[in-house]
Amino acid sequence: MKAIEVVDVSYSYPDGRLALDGVSISVEVGERVAILGPNGAGKSTLLMVMSGLLQPLRGEVRVLGVPTSSKDFERVRLRIGLVFQQPDDQLFSPTLWEDVAYGPQNMGLSAEEVEKRVGESLEYVGLAGLEHRPPYRLSVGEKKKAALATALAMKPQILLLDEPTANLEPASRTEFVELINRLNREECIAVITATHDVSIVPQISDKVYVLQSGRILREGAPNRIFLDLELLRSAKLEPPPSVQAYMALKELIGDAGCAPLTTQELISWVARALSNSDQLAKKRGCCV
Ligand SMILES: Nc1ncnc2c1ncn2[C@@H]1O[C@H](COP(=O)(O)OP(=O)(O)OP(=O)(O)O)[C@@H](O)[C@H]1O
Ligand SMILES: [Mg+2]
Repeated sequence: MKAIEVVDVSYSYPDGRLALDGVSISVEVGERVAILGPNGAGKSTLLMVMSGLLQPLRGEVRVLGVPTSSKDFERVRLRIGLVFQQPDDQLFSPTLWEDVAYGPQNMGLSAEEVEKRVGESLEYVGLAGLEHRPPYRLSVGEKKKAALATALAMKPQILLLDEPTANLEPASRTEFVELINRLNREECIAVITATHDVSIVPQISDKVYVLQSGRILREGAPNRIFLDLELLRSAKLEPPPSVQAYMALKELIGDAGCAPLTTQELISWVARALSNSDQLAKKRGCCV
């Protein structure tokens, strides 16, 4: 069974704006998928359609095999954690504790279980000790983590993250990416991340869908997608810095076959190429 199947889905807002146009996406259980696209591409709309908050105009969305239009979906809805683009849309209670407890309480869990889930979720995201803080007194990064904690308290099997690293400084961004990957690894949660931030895509996805003007332009592994400069240009995106450096260097030192997606991968590729050229020079009897 797939975690999520989006089959030829179109969605129009009430004002007639066609935000999704024949979108198909498939996410395996425990898979990490990125929806990459520029502003206005339809990423947030797509996540809302995947979570059942919006019903498609055409096509079908199935979550863990259950169509979002069916009665059974209410049961499945609890397996999905949607973290909104704006944390303020998710945090509305007087204290952080109440915000994180809201979902488990609505599920009818015992007070003891609610307490346990709030404690575990805040601990997981590193906000333990801030239970009594009003959410509006949290920093931007803390709000992002708090919004994630509200989703985790529901023990989701699927996480939908909308621009999780927007407005985060580099250190917080790295921390957030590690947190997401830990959840995926340890809890086998499928993580679908909508973003326009190309630099995090290699770190948070095994598969990428490029979305532009409500349509999927391409699906593929990050190291294939980021080599297609024409595709990126048409989606108003730029390759990550390591790929830009690779493009400039490959004329000089040869083709790696696939793009190095991180600085570390770039360094390894250059080091390998240099070592090969040393060996070649030695074979020819040159001094190196
Ligand atoms: N409530 C709404 N009513 C009408 N049109 C909307 C509404 N919300 C979004 N849209 C339009 O639908 C399209 C897709 O919007 P969406 O928010 O899904 O894009 P996005 O890829 O998430 O963009 P961003 O990167 O800016 O968050 C845009 O053209 C947007 O103007
Ligand atoms: Mg958005």
